[in-house]
Amino acid sequence: MKSMKKTFNYSFAITVGLVFTMFSCDDPNSPGVEYMPDMYRSPAIEVYVDYEFPDSSTARLTPEHAIPRGYKPYPYPNSTEGFELAGENLSNPLHLTEKTIKEGKALYNSFCAHCHGKKGKGKGSIQNAIYGAVPSYSDTLPNRRGNRSMKELKEGHIYQAIMYGLNAMGPHSSLIRERDRWKIVAYVQTLQGKDPLDMQQDKMQETKEENEDSNEEVAKLN
Ligand code: HEC
Repeated sequence: MKSMKKTFNYSFAITVGLVFTMFSCDDPNSPGVEYMPDMYRSPAIEVYVDYEFPDSSTARLTPEHAIPRGYKPYPYPNSTEGFELAGENLSNPLHLTEKTIKEGKALYNSFCAHCHGKKGKGKGSIQNAIYGAVPSYSDTLPNRRGNRSMKELKEGHIYQAIMYGLNAMGPHSSLIRERDRWKIVAYVQTLQGKDPLDMQQDKMQETKEENEDSNEEVAKLN
């Protein structure tokens, strides 16, 4: 009984002592003891705080080759070489269906038809001398970049044309999302007189056969 009383006295004394240390600050403006100071003073660099960088600027430039979050770099430059490489390497990543083509048509009508015409014959509603030379997608004369005709343009070429434009045609990369660009590409292929659904099926079949062949070769090695 006696020892219990003693313990109680001690803990009472400690509590009173603690309360005193917490409240017995001389300076009325002091915020007191800071619990987790990082919450008040962020360790991250903030703008408009002088951290004494040699150039005295706190708004630092991003490191070289930094990529904004959510941004997908496009590796093909706006040049003839870039155009050729895009034509060779790029293929439509979407699984094409009738619905994709229909959506491509709606997008085409919003973004391209006023110059290229609803049927892609180059007779859009915009009447201006500089747009007078809009080529038809089904044109078979090989007089374009890489000495090809409009009809011969592959999906990667069309995609590159949407990205950067060409002469009187402005770039559309900032206006149209990646997957919508590919929907438009598929629709433009129909205006070239091609069947993108069939072409994708053929390509899948080819890849399947190539895989089977290489599997057979690997099997022979073992
Ligand atoms: C302001 C009018 C205009 C708009 C809008 C426009 N184009 Fe064009 N486009 C042109 C002209 C003009 C050319 C021919 C450029 C040249 O050969 O000098 C062209 C060329 C092209 C070519 C051929 C490029 C090459 O390398 O030969 C493709 C493919 C094409 N456009 C697709 C599109 C698609 C798809 C859209 C919609 C996303 C579109 N264009 C929107 C005017 C336009």
